[in-house]
Amino acid sequence: MPEARTTPEPTLTSIPPAGAHPAPAGSAVEIWWARVDVGNLSDDTRTRLASDLDESRTAKIERYRRAEDRDRGLAAHSLLRRVLTSVTGTPPAELDLGSFCITCNEHGHGKPYLSSGDGARPVELNLSHSGEIVIVALAAPGVQIGVDVEQSRTVDWDAMRSSIFADQEWAATERRTDREHRRLFTWARKESSVKASGHGLSLPLRGVVTVEETEGTWSASMPQGVGRVAGADLDLGPDVAAAVAVLRESGWPEPPALHQVEIG
Ligand SMILES: CC(C)(COP(=O)(O)OP(=O)(O)OC[C@H]1O[C@@H](n2cnc3c(N)ncnc32)[C@H](O)[C@@H]1OP(=O)(O)O)[C@@H](O)C(=O)NCCC(=O)NCCS
Ligand SMILES: [Zn+2]
Repeated sequence: MPEARTTPEPTLTSIPPAGAHPAPAGSAVEIWWARVDVGNLSDDTRTRLASDLDESRTAKIERYRRAEDRDRGLAAHSLLRRVLTSVTGTPPAELDLGSFCITCNEHGHGKPYLSSGDGARPVELNLSHSGEIVIVALAAPGVQIGVDVEQSRTVDWDAMRSSIFADQEWAATERRTDREHRRLFTWARKESSVKASGHGLSLPLRGVVTVEETEGTWSASMPQGVGRVAGADLDLGPDVAAAVAVLRESGWPEPPALHQVEIG
């Protein structure tokens, strides 16, 4: 089996100015991500990030007990809104972001989406955060997309095994010398899949069965008749496992465009 791929040198890019960046078209997928010194942001930076958000989001983040969680939330939602501003031209705090729960068929919680004034969706999006990493995925209107990131940490894999991994997925990681990292990637693949469909963890992760297609791309069959997902692993560094998924029957179309930015 192939070993872990080498990590590219980080190349930082800037988020384009308001309205200057077209939404992805067709099956193209874009990834915007940042590494954040969570827990240690300056007060000025926190104020700047918070000014990108709306009141309900800042109130939610202020309720997090730990500074790390507050900084991660500020950075993730600021990154999301700044990227959406580059696509729509609407200032970050004025963007009309809603959420919809496919399980309850209700708005107000669940998968986030962006509305434009006429109710259309200018771009599809998803968001994830873990440790120092915040990440946003964008796709063309109508493409159901999900992204998940997991920063390396100590995990009790034996405890996780029966709730997360299908037997064949676990066996595939056992053959690898980098098995803990592969398990983290498998986890990210499965979470990105349930986030693409919008079901989140109301679908049992063990029932989402991923199969490697080519090195770094994979597909998944979803439980409860939800269909199939195509996905790609994202190489963000040796301490990170991340994956992006779209709900579609056929394989992963083209490599996602990866943009690392500084958020501050
Ligand atoms: C969505 C979920 C998979 C996120 O997993 P996680 O690894 O803890 O968190 P991540 O950082 O990867 O993603 C969090 C982001 O996903 C997005 N999200 C929330 N619900 C989502 C959903 N159903 N589908 C896709 N994305 C979702 C939000 O932007 C969220 O950001 P926020 O927490 O800052 O608001 C998980 O929290 C979940 O499934 N929750 C709901 C469980 C459930 O049973 N729902 C039924 C409600 S009735
Ligand atoms: Zn719900």
